[in-house]
Amino acid sequence: MRLSDKVVIVTGAGSGMGRAIAELFAKEGAKVVASDISEERINEVSTSIKEAGGEALGILANVAKESDVQQLIDRTVQAYGTVDILVNNAGIMDNFIPVGEVTHEHWERVLGVNLNGPMYASRAVLKIMLEKGKGVIINNASVGGLFGARGGAAYVASKHALIGLTKNTAAVYGSKGIRTNAIAPGGVNTAISGTITAPNQLGMEAIGRAGSAPMGEAQEIAYAALFLASDESSFVNGVVLTADGGWTAH
Ligand SMILES: NC(=O)c1ccc[n+]([C@@H]2O[C@H](COP(=O)([O-])OP(=O)(O)OC[C@H]3O[C@@H](n4cnc5c(N)ncnc54)[C@H](O)[C@@H]3O)[C@@H](O)[C@H]2O)c1
Repeated sequence: MRLSDKVVIVTGAGSGMGRAIAELFAKEGAKVVASDISEERINEVSTSIKEAGGEALGILANVAKESDVQQLIDRTVQAYGTVDILVNNAGIMDNFIPVGEVTHEHWERVLGVNLNGPMYASRAVLKIMLEKGKGVIINNASVGGLFGARGGAAYVASKHALIGLTKNTAAVYGSKGIRTNAIAPGGVNTAISGTITAPNQLGMEAIGRAGSAPMGEAQEIAYAALFLASDESSFVNGVVLTADGGWTAH
């Protein structure tokens, strides 16, 4: 097994890629803290991990709230003694709203989940990882963190910033034994598409010009995360691993 006894926190573990990562990591021997904003989803995923013979603990946390994130880390340490791997996966989309039409409240909400959340969690786990001289942080970004027309202004800005946070964290803490990398998925079949409730026409036109995305499955991203989490990627730090079926290759 590739993650035997590693203590892993996965945010947004109740659905899609987060759930696939939580389940795959548990199969690989990790003790998984499955965190989400939805209690029902947490119960589902932690039950499914335990039924498959794995170790899991569900903890409710809204990553946009620093106090929630801190209790997530504290309760993980109480239960399992440490944190070895943090997967900042929770994220929300933004109806492709361009900057000319974005409201302050919408901007703050998207940045709060997609950028502040990973910052709060990274800041808190770094204290633990620095003491150990070892740790792994994986940020689930997006091809929207690399190109302009893969989301709205808030989503694209948040994911570009998340990639910046990834690289800065890697550059600063790599010499302390802590590796930080990002994944940039393209189109993946998950529940997130159901959150596109009122797609902005102008934003959709720009996305249309980027061409249609091949669609992948959550498990295909989980395997990319597994590589970055395991010691097989021991010399990989500060990269953005694009997993988009070639969408951005042409
Ligand atoms: N699906 C795609 O096509 C795609 C492509 C590129 C990147 N991504 C990114 O991948 C990540 C996972 O997305 P997914 O497609 O699996 O989505 P999903 O909607 O299936 O799952 C996201 C989970 O995050 C949880 N969540 C939402 N807000 C939260 C908060 N404030 N605190 C804690 N949990 C919260 C939701 O309850 C849900 O269970 C996101 O960061 C997303 O931006 C998705």
